[in-house]
Amino acid sequence: MEIRNLINITDLSVEEINSLINTADDIVAHPEAYEDICRHKKLATLFFEPSTRTRLSFEAAMLELGGSVLGFSSANSSSAAKGESVSDTVRTVGCYADIIAMRHPKEGAPIVAARRAGVPIINAGDGGHFHPTQTLTDLLTIKRKFGRLNGLTIGLCGDLKFGRTVHSLIEAMLRYENIRFVLISPEELQVPDYIKESMDKAGVDWTETSSLDDAMPQLDVLYMTRIQKERFFNEEDYVRLKDSYILTPEKMRLAGENMIVMHPLPRVNEISVEVDDDPRACYFFQALCGKHIRMALILFLLGIKRQ
Ligand code: NCD
Repeated sequence: MEIRNLINITDLSVEEINSLINTADDIVAHPEAYEDICRHKKLATLFFEPSTRTRLSFEAAMLELGGSVLGFSSANSSSAAKGESVSDTVRTVGCYADIIAMRHPKEGAPIVAARRAGVPIINAGDGGHFHPTQTLTDLLTIKRKFGRLNGLTIGLCGDLKFGRTVHSLIEAMLRYENIRFVLISPEELQVPDYIKESMDKAGVDWTETSSLDDAMPQLDVLYMTRIQKERFFNEEDYVRLKDSYILTPEKMRLAGENMIVMHPLPRVNEISVEVDDDPRACYFFQALCGKHIRMALILFLLGIKRQ
């Protein structure tokens, strides 16, 4: 069988994404059909950068499928601390596990890994580049909330330059019909040019603004993001930009009653905790969707189907 990896969200066709969403729903409807389906299979999580949701939802996903998990949660506790290359690490782990989810601070590290691993590699975030499994999570959340993935106006707000979840979400959504993006950020944190080129090439409608207030009334989805402190080159820029947007109950009054608020989490202060009680806030539901879609993804990449 040809090894499939998930490095970039465009490694999956729209049909494959839709089929993962259907599997995720089937897993919720018939958990008993999946509880043992990955028996004797092992997932390795190699996290060279911090994580809560991504790593633990991958591990919970494999455990709920009846498989096992192994791995490390920081570069310091692996041989990377001794100077081992990513390539050698994954080549080794490929001898111990059937599938690998990895997160690395360097853009492109999962591509290097995929050449050597001998088992499927899942990119669980590479630097400020891409984060395709967060995008699958986001698509499942939107589908469950709206019943569709087309005909939506999506506002993305915050650090659109370094926010890898934003880049992957745009690359995914521009393949659906009648999508409009409203990109809300300070000028210094606008989406990179390669993302703008992708939107132009796809012919999607997009606008840029620095005003969250102006954008709010138009949106079906407001996707908030954290200012990515660890990717800044200097502290002053971070301090100047860190409080650019704070979503409060007052601001929520500007939005339509069916708009949903998403956030990949972790949040710092960009959504005030009072917003959590608003029925339109769905970031913790989103975290739950992350486990369901990762279960579906593991099955897909291992080539395992429900009997
Ligand atoms: C995101 C990430 O790691 O890019 N977190 C996540 O995986 N849910 C978002 C972030 O760190 O801001």
